[in-house]
Amino acid sequence: MTVKEAPPEEIKREIERLVDELNYHCYRYYVLDSPVISDEEYDRLFRRLKELEEKYNYILPHSPTQRVGAPPLDKFEKVRHTVPMLSLDNAFSYDEVREFDERVKRFLGVEEEIEYTVEPKYDGLAIEITYRNGILYRASTRGDGYEGEDVTQNIKTIRSVPLRIPPDVPIPEEIDIRGEVYMNILDFEELNKQREAQGEPLFANPRNAAAGSVRQLDPSVTASRKLHLACYGVGACRGIEFSSQWEFIHWLKKARFPVPAYLKLCKGIGEVLKTLDEIGELRKTFPFEADGAVIKVNDFELQKRLGVKTREPRWAIAYKFPAHQGTTVIKAIVPSVGRTGIITPVAIFEPVRIGGVIVSRSTLHNWDEIKRKDIRVGDTVVVERAGEVIPHVVMVIKEKRTGKEVPPEIPDHCPVCGAKVIRQEGEVAVRCIGLNCPAQVKERIRHFASRNAMDIEGLGEKNVDLLYEAGLIRHFVDLYKLKKEDLLKLPRFAEKSAQNLIDAIERSKKTTLSRFLFALGIHYVGEYTAKLLAKEFKNLEDLYHVSYERLIQIPQIGEKTARSVALFFNDDKNLQTLEELKALGLQITNPEYRGEEEKGEEPLKGLTFVITGALPRPRQEVEELIERLGGHAASSVSRKTDYLIVGESPGSKLQRAQTLGVKTISYDEFLKMAGLKDED
Ligand code: IVH
Repeated sequence: MTVKEAPPEEIKREIERLVDELNYHCYRYYVLDSPVISDEEYDRLFRRLKELEEKYNYILPHSPTQRVGAPPLDKFEKVRHTVPMLSLDNAFSYDEVREFDERVKRFLGVEEEIEYTVEPKYDGLAIEITYRNGILYRASTRGDGYEGEDVTQNIKTIRSVPLRIPPDVPIPEEIDIRGEVYMNILDFEELNKQREAQGEPLFANPRNAAAGSVRQLDPSVTASRKLHLACYGVGACRGIEFSSQWEFIHWLKKARFPVPAYLKLCKGIGEVLKTLDEIGELRKTFPFEADGAVIKVNDFELQKRLGVKTREPRWAIAYKFPAHQGTTVIKAIVPSVGRTGIITPVAIFEPVRIGGVIVSRSTLHNWDEIKRKDIRVGDTVVVERAGEVIPHVVMVIKEKRTGKEVPPEIPDHCPVCGAKVIRQEGEVAVRCIGLNCPAQVKERIRHFASRNAMDIEGLGEKNVDLLYEAGLIRHFVDLYKLKKEDLLKLPRFAEKSAQNLIDAIERSKKTTLSRFLFALGIHYVGEYTAKLLAKEFKNLEDLYHVSYERLIQIPQIGEKTARSVALFFNDDKNLQTLEELKALGLQITNPEYRGEEEKGEEPLKGLTFVITGALPRPRQEVEELIERLGGHAASSVSRKTDYLIVGESPGSKLQRAQTLGVKTISYDEFLKMAGLKDED
């Protein structure tokens, strides 16, 4: 055994100086995000400290070397909170925030404006950190509010958590500081990527990732996660008094604690609501997820008078921003047959409110996707709905499984017509081969009539069903043979509604080539390809008997599409149908056709684009298109990026673009720039 030397005074002083210095640099780096020395310099000081500590066995409790290295635990010890950690009442609208203000005033018996603080609501894990005489003594989770778990060693690994309150601020004998441990969105995404690569279960959101990282028996796992702290509250406290939330937060700031990224003192509820607007905008630029804002009566004396209800204080409320995600249970997975016979699995949910809309179903895209995400009936899932994007299942929360969940079966017969179902080599799609499958026929007609196709107003799903069941339509050609008298015999139609539909059908006869091509529902011909074809071919007849070779010459058209279009226009029966439509009065113009002279334009010349999220076309294809039209397609966002094209489920590039002020556009907007879509 080696006996360590007792440290001479000057070594003690050097160690103390190094500890203070390193803690200060840690604060500059992790709390202020503004380091004043290089990483190398920090490492050098750290190594020197470690060396001295080991040599002289003189280790201060707040030494930065004490953040890591604690051995794993068998279990967490329980910790009782001296003052219970309450939860917050929620407000989902500004009206509810106003009602909160009225309750506060009524309770206090005052009429004058109340002073409130407003700060972001961090979506993480609530913890309490006790400091005794300025030294971090213990950290615990909220638990049930009365008793939590001792996670001291784990919390110490978070670099922004001060191990000591610096002596230049008033130091209380004992203080319980409360805050939220959270993970930034980019770090959460990175962590999930790593976990996916290692075949480990993914975290549903940054909150779960933060909570899972803190509740680790092995502190070295916590240390490997990028966690942050935001302090917003005080529990038990001896030896110092604060008169308000504002004063307390400013003490925290001086004492080098990380505080909420935004804090505002508001006189009256009007100012509070304005601040909520402001945070609602600002939060898009926050690197972390703020699911709301917390409004607190500023004055601690008033807080005391207001007191608590059962579990929530009367002096605070959390305003929740409209959510983009929600959690729900899959009640069933039903097969749905589309116009091309593809059978898509659709999840039926326990209805859930997301962003002010009730979501009760969403497509699961295809059966491979179900397998990949291991989605089962009975599963609890995270559902996302952002903006106009249709809702989709982000992931399954596997921890919620009871064992009773059942994977759905791929149907072997069409649920509508009973015909056999096939799955072609190399295709994920499962397809009904029923020639006269009513589901397919109805979907084809509905598609034909839809807004971006022939735009027949009033011919939605219900009316198509009705006309089909009545035997009036078996094909979209039949629409142009409908008579008002036929409609009047049906239950849903009266004189006016029948006339309206007849008029709408009549109006649809005047259309453009691109709309018409899209309406036909040719395999692989969406709106985009229909426009490409309209640019290339002057009129419909030019497409009759078109060859694969001719089509494949069009740069944006791939093999599958070329084959499908050629097949369609070389089928005599199809051509007969087109002629029949013309005979029924269809008039097609083609304003999109660009003659030879216009070819070779470069509408995107000099512009740099980056893509994030899923676009309606394969990414590679869109990138090729950008290049062909004179632009440049880059893979990551920088200041040089002109536009970020944002698809479904955008990734971290979106945030980066917002931070750098790079313009974001939708795929549709991009098509417009590229001259491939009508200007609205
Ligand atoms: S104050 C008496 N301020 O939200 C209530 N809480 O839904 C004390 N939270 O348990 C909480 N950000 O974990 C407060 N700026 C903030 C917050 C915040 C996040 C969490 C906290 C609390 C939960 C209640």
